[in-house]
Amino acid sequence: MISFQTKAQFNKDAAVILLTKSQIEKKKFNFSNAKIQNAVLDLAKNKTFCGDKDSIFPLTNEKKLVLLVGVDESKDANLTSLRITIKKALSSSYLKNAKTIELIPQVNDEPSIQALIEGIMIGAYKWKKYIKADEKEIKLKQIIIATPNKPAYQKTIEICDGVNFTRDLVNDNADVITSEYFEKTIKSLIKGKKNIALKILNTKELSAQGCGLHLAVNKGSDKEPKLIIVKYAGGKKSEPYTALVGKGLTFDSGGLNLKPTGHMETMRCDMSGAAAVVGTLKNVLKLNIKKNLVFVCGMAENAIGSCSYKPGDVFVGYAGKSVEIGNTDAEGRLVLADTIAYTVKNYKPATLIDIATLTGAVAVGLGFDFSGLLSNDQKLADALLKSSQETDDRIWQLPLYVEIRDAIKSNYADLRNSSNIKGGGAITGAEFLRNFIGDTKSWAHLDIAGSAFVEGTSRMYYGYGGTGAGVRLLTHYLINN
Ligand code: BES
Ligand code: ZN
Ligand code: ZN
Repeated sequence: MISFQTKAQFNKDAAVILLTKSQIEKKKFNFSNAKIQNAVLDLAKNKTFCGDKDSIFPLTNEKKLVLLVGVDESKDANLTSLRITIKKALSSSYLKNAKTIELIPQVNDEPSIQALIEGIMIGAYKWKKYIKADEKEIKLKQIIIATPNKPAYQKTIEICDGVNFTRDLVNDNADVITSEYFEKTIKSLIKGKKNIALKILNTKELSAQGCGLHLAVNKGSDKEPKLIIVKYAGGKKSEPYTALVGKGLTFDSGGLNLKPTGHMETMRCDMSGAAAVVGTLKNVLKLNIKKNLVFVCGMAENAIGSCSYKPGDVFVGYAGKSVEIGNTDAEGRLVLADTIAYTVKNYKPATLIDIATLTGAVAVGLGFDFSGLLSNDQKLADALLKSSQETDDRIWQLPLYVEIRDAIKSNYADLRNSSNIKGGGAITGAEFLRNFIGDTKSWAHLDIAGSAFVEGTSRMYYGYGGTGAGVRLLTHYLINN
């Protein structure tokens, strides 16, 4: 979909030229095509096109379209405004019928080109399995960027593919993307790859292992709960393992503490953590990242039936701790408790990062553009924050502290899955998980409940649906740490 050529040629269906206000004012542009050069000079002289942020001006040159696009250069301008600008430009109806588009960025620095690639690939993504070809959508286009190709750009393209792979998993119906589907997807990703071992625990094995919390959540469902583990020995034998653990609730109805209308419609996204783990696995294999890794997906469905687990019940999990069910809608932490405890005991990772659509509270605190980060190791937190800044996969740190433990105490079990206090739901959720990390010194929890899914029509450069939150972040973290 994206390729590169050293210089602009103006021989494709359309050319998109990015221009800033000061470039126009100072007439600082020099196009190889004289007609285009003169046309833009005229527009600049007459102030017909001033290069204002996101402004779009169409020209024709020998029956081909040339689209001038204004790029922000104010003090608010950053790489994200560039991502948004290119997404908007490519969605313009002028380009509706253009199949091959030449993009003339007029900048050649690596971060800007990478941001453009992300704006194109992540911005152009649309979930369209269930709609007829619609005129407004960005159809599959060939985009040729007029800049010398670099290996770093291929990497960005691969990573964006991983992001969109995750989004496809998130967007389809809950009854399509089941735990079985995850198993099949993972099997096809790892087929023929070296140094990889797959382990799957179904109901029978989960119950033999004592994963009573994971099983409790799935009691109302006729689908198979699954713990899916991919062990990848990509690094040296002596190097420690890092585990990535994802919450994979293929649907979260809330259980008997049923979610109300307005809160349930998007709950097929409750497997976004597991989907991000799978997208990262795809990237690791594609980019041949040489690390020792464990990819773990805790899969279940929080459905309603006569067998559903019930508020007030107590269940004992893999770690031997009993949990009072304060609320059947706080199911993710139950599945993760067993998933994390099993991973820690059996794989002994030096670092464990879990990623989960865990709490609505995280979106109350941070909104929808940031995932919550909570960690018992500031070094790990700092490394993740750095990756976040470099990838625009945004996270923000929230505190973990021992005193909050009182909030998840039970009168008749070791723990309670819901909090006795009103505020700080994202923190009490993380504190609950902390009970299951054993002596893992380096653990981080990413709460992506706000960032994983766009409910409206768009947010930044993301359209409706799954955003692939966490994939760029985790891939970057694994490459650089
Ligand atoms: N899956 C939800 C969290 C969620 C909310 C994800 C919005 C995506 C968007 C989670 O299982 C949940 O329902 N959490 C409860 C916990 C509470 C009952 C302690 C919540 O956040 O209200
Ligand atoms: Zn829930
Ligand atoms: Zn949930």
